[in-house]
Amino acid sequence: MAFPLDLISVLRHVERVTVLTGAGVSQESGLRTFRDSQTGLWAQYRPTDLATPQAFARDPKLVWDWYAMRRDKVRTVEPNPAHLALARMARLVSDFCLVTQNVDGLHQKAEAIVAGSSLLQRAYPIIELHGNLARVRCASCGQPAETWDESDQDVPCCAFCGGLLRPDVVWFGEALPRQALEQAVEAARTCQVFFSVGTSGVVQPAASLAYAARNRGAVVVEVNAEPTPLSEKADFALQGKAGEVLPALVEAAWPTPPSR
Ligand code: OAD
Repeated sequence: MAFPLDLISVLRHVERVTVLTGAGVSQESGLRTFRDSQTGLWAQYRPTDLATPQAFARDPKLVWDWYAMRRDKVRTVEPNPAHLALARMARLVSDFCLVTQNVDGLHQKAEAIVAGSSLLQRAYPIIELHGNLARVRCASCGQPAETWDESDQDVPCCAFCGGLLRPDVVWFGEALPRQALEQAVEAARTCQVFFSVGTSGVVQPAASLAYAARNRGAVVVEVNAEPTPLSEKADFALQGKAGEVLPALVEAAWPTPPSR
C-alpha cells in the first residue's frame, strides 16, 4: 500500500497524536456499524425506539434486551488489525490519546494484547465518549451495578434504590460524560496530528473534534471506507478498510527493525 511521502514524513517526526474512532474501526471484528446503508444498525432499527431516554421510559424491556443482545455479541468478538495497529502506534509516539465513540471495549482489549507482547509498557488515555456496553447503572440514582441477573424476565433493578438498571451508554438527547468530553477537546486542540478513523462524522460533539484540531493547526488524517463530510477538509483522506490501512501506515512510518 502506497502512502503520500509527506504524510510519512510528518508521522516520523510527530510527538503528539490524537485519534478519534467510530464504529467502522470495529466492523472487521464483526460488529455492525450504524449508518452503512445495508448493514448498519440504523438501517434495521430506529434510534428513537431504542437509544433515547424516552424509548427507555416507554418500553424499558425492549431497550434493555436490545443492549443485552449487543453486549452478548461484543463478548464473542476480538480486536482486529486496526485496533492492534493503534495500540502499536501508541507506543511509537510520545504523547498519544485515543478517543472513541465505540461502546465495545475493543481498544482496551487490543491494548491488553499488545501490552502482553511488547517490552514497552505505555500508559495512554482511552477516552470513551459514548460510554461502554459492559457497564450498567441505575436509571434513577445513577449508582453503577457490579452484577445483575441477565436471565431475569424483567429489567433488573438497582440494589440501592430499586430503580431500573440501564446500560451505561449515551443516548440521543443526553449529555456526554463531562470529563471525557473535556479531555477529548483538549487532546484535539493540542495534538499535531489528528486521525479520524471509521466514523461517518455526523454525530456531535464528536464530529467537531477534527475541526477543533484543524483550527489549531493539526494535520488531519482520515481513514474511512468511504468519503465523509470531513474528507474534503482533511489534509489526507485515506480510503479503505481501517484493518488494512492502519497496519500498513504504521509499518510505513515506523518500520519494524529487522530482527538479528
Ligand atoms: P457510523 O455507522 O455512522 O459510521 C461508520 C463509518 O465507518 C462509515 O463512514 C463507514 O463507511 C465506515 N466504515 C465501515 N467499515 C469500515 C472499515 N472496515 N474501515 C473503515 N471505515 C469503515 O458510526 P459512527 O460514526 O461511529 O452513537 O457513529 C457515531 C455514533 O452514532 C455512534 O457512537 C452511535 C451512533 O448513533 C450513539 O449511540 C450515541
